[in-house]
Amino acid sequence: MQTEFSKGINIIKDLCVQFNTIHIDPLERKWIAISLMIVGLFVGIITIDALFHGINPPSKVETIDSASLHLSQEFAEDNLGVQVDDKGAVIIRMVAGRYSFFPKHVDVPAETPLTFRWVSMDVLHGVHIPMTNMSTMIVPGYVAEISTTFPKPGEYPLLCNEYCGLGHNHMWSNISVIAKEDWHAPVKSHVKGEQQ
Ligand code: CUA
Repeated sequence: MQTEFSKGINIIKDLCVQFNTIHIDPLERKWIAISLMIVGLFVGIITIDALFHGINPPSKVETIDSASLHLSQEFAEDNLGVQVDDKGAVIIRMVAGRYSFFPKHVDVPAETPLTFRWVSMDVLHGVHIPMTNMSTMIVPGYVAEISTTFPKPGEYPLLCNEYCGLGHNHMWSNISVIAKEDWHAPVKSHVKGEQQ
């Protein structure tokens, strides 16, 4: 580990030496420095978001067997849709498959933090809700998780945005966002597959 690290340091040192020996116009040098600073700034923002705001890629490398979703606890057919767990968190589980999202329609409350959990039963799909920040790939074998809040009630389409076959452009569902006070949690006999 230590040797790998010192090898890396040596490579960077060599690059710096080479960089200083090549003739580069001072103006160009300035611009190289500015672009490196911009890259550094963006990497810094991503790092701070990941460490302090918990913003991560939707796939947290949580795996699932796509071929046996119907046998899994969490994504069995009667467990899909909107649920409220013991802590009061609203979780929406949906399965993407050629060519729809199941269930085809869900009702969710506005102004409430929502956690969407997506899985694919066949190939790579994407999910996008126009006019919101909700967009992710749904990779077979992985659970994609997104947390979001809809500020306003309304009808939102839910579209597939990764080409998945001939029916790709017909792959959609919709979400009704209902005013918080009018929304009622669906009654379920029991909730299977708790979120970790
Ligand atoms: Cu599913 Cu395109």
